[in-house]
Amino acid sequence: MLFDTHCHLNDKALNNRVDEVIESANNAGVTHFLVVGWDKESSLEAVRLAKKYKNVYAAVGFHPCNIDDLTDKDFYDTLNLCKEEKVVAIGEIGLDYHWVKDPIKQEKQKEYFIKQIEFANENNMPIIIHNRDAFQDCLKILKEHKPEHSGVMHCYSGSVEVLEDVFNLHLLIGLDGPVTFTNAKTPKAVAEEVPLDMLLLETDCPYLAPHPLRGTVNEPKNLGLVLDEIARLKGLSKKHIGDATFKNSCRLFGIKYEEDN
Ligand code: NI
Repeated sequence: MLFDTHCHLNDKALNNRVDEVIESANNAGVTHFLVVGWDKESSLEAVRLAKKYKNVYAAVGFHPCNIDDLTDKDFYDTLNLCKEEKVVAIGEIGLDYHWVKDPIKQEKQKEYFIKQIEFANENNMPIIIHNRDAFQDCLKILKEHKPEHSGVMHCYSGSVEVLEDVFNLHLLIGLDGPVTFTNAKTPKAVAEEVPLDMLLLETDCPYLAPHPLRGTVNEPKNLGLVLDEIARLKGLSKKHIGDATFKNSCRLFGIKYEEDN
């Protein structure tokens, strides 16, 4: 049993064939899915998929690139979806200075990041953090507005040196396709260092297809390639890492599961 803790089955690249995507994932041993929203529509779709499919869960929230022209009503209507069944996190939220260079817009990203952390705290929810080229500001905000119910640094791109800061905030590390890229030194070093009880596996599909599928439409069925590389780097069995990360996922997102094997 593997848990893909960050997938976008709500993205148009996958959304018209979710039955097939889930079936081929199941055939590859990927049994559980957390579908993450990035705006109002994608959050609604994540909730719909969670209601429809067994072992599919949802996260709702606004990605930092999706906050322009956002009304308070849409913002809170979307976040309040966290009260629905099988919604287990607020996300993905955070900062993205790669796509947004305008300092005024970056300030707005910070404001919405903080608002969503506070909403998660008030509603007893963990958070899923998106950070791109904004690590220092992201960490500063997280220190000043601590996520009280933990969370994950999704697609962690920071260095080994700052892992300590992340763990002091009781946040987990999500690793995905980049750990498999042949030229990716930092994610590989992070994979070696991160303690097994702080690690989650994710695909971020349809993005970030792992090596050797790089550049194709990614799917949860490819999670095994991420696992293979982490197992190789850590010198541990795939079963050991698969089981540990599955338990971490259930612990973080408050999901009960039967140990049936
Ligand atoms: Ni994502």
